[in-house]
Amino acid sequence: MGRIAVVTGGTRGLGKAISLALHAKGYRVIAVCCSNVGAALELCEETAIPVFKWDVGDFDACRDGVEHIEKEFGHIDILVNNAGITSDAVLHHMTPDQWWRVINNDLGAVFNMCRHVIEGMRARSFGRIVNISSVNGQKGQFGQTNYAAAKAGILGFTKALALEGARRNITVNAIAPGYSDTDMVAAVPHEVLHSIVADIPVGHLGDPMDVGRMVAFLVDDSAGFITGATFAVNGGQYMS
Ligand code: CAA
Repeated sequence: MGRIAVVTGGTRGLGKAISLALHAKGYRVIAVCCSNVGAALELCEETAIPVFKWDVGDFDACRDGVEHIEKEFGHIDILVNNAGITSDAVLHHMTPDQWWRVINNDLGAVFNMCRHVIEGMRARSFGRIVNISSVNGQKGQFGQTNYAAAKAGILGFTKALALEGARRNITVNAIAPGYSDTDMVAAVPHEVLHSIVADIPVGHLGDPMDVGRMVAFLVDDSAGFITGATFAVNGGQYMS
């Protein structure tokens, strides 16, 4: 029986690629989505991957969702915190709502989900957690003080939890994707995106599967010595 992997935001964009990559490796993948029911149905029909719908920014909803999954499928071995949103604006125009929505959905959700799986992972002395950050959390991005703060916060969270999990065979790593071919990136104004792509050394957007493959590598049972690390998947756009 394959290990059970939960992927938040797992029905679209990078999350869908992650779900597909893990599914192809034989994991029992469960995707969590928040709003786009059409994408959820499509993934389910294509792959039979079950999809649960709740708001990962809501602590109690995460508790109920995790309990539900564990009752129906068994304990969660692997958690990929991928769900995220943007709400771009320069700071002098950003509203508190834009700030808190992004902080809560992109960083708060990582706490919410980890908090509800970590005790089980500790009890079983096994866990693989991968948090999806962003190149913009590493280098900053004009118009994204909220998103850059949340994604940079994920990197600190990852290192701290990696220390706490290390003796229990729980690894916690972050991936910092660059600009990939997803709906989120397609929403960037055309002229802005054009100049961003011009700054990517490989000369094109990433394929979401680039990130899927990196997740599959990190969650393998044999990857137990790799923890607390941040992996850039960004076409050379930022080298730290
Ligand atoms: N650097 C410096 N100056 C910039 C700039 C930049 N990157 N972008 C815009 N400006 C300047 C403009 O030239 C303009 O200057 P003037 O007033 O002197 O003419 C000023 O800032 C205002 O620009 P806009 O008219 O574009 O301002 P706006 O308020 O309409 O929009 C914005 C600002 C919302 C930030 C818009 O530029 C935008 O959407 N940018 C894209 C941000 C982005 O890359 N988001 C990534 C989303 S994808 C993602 O996040 C996934 C991931 O992890 C990689």
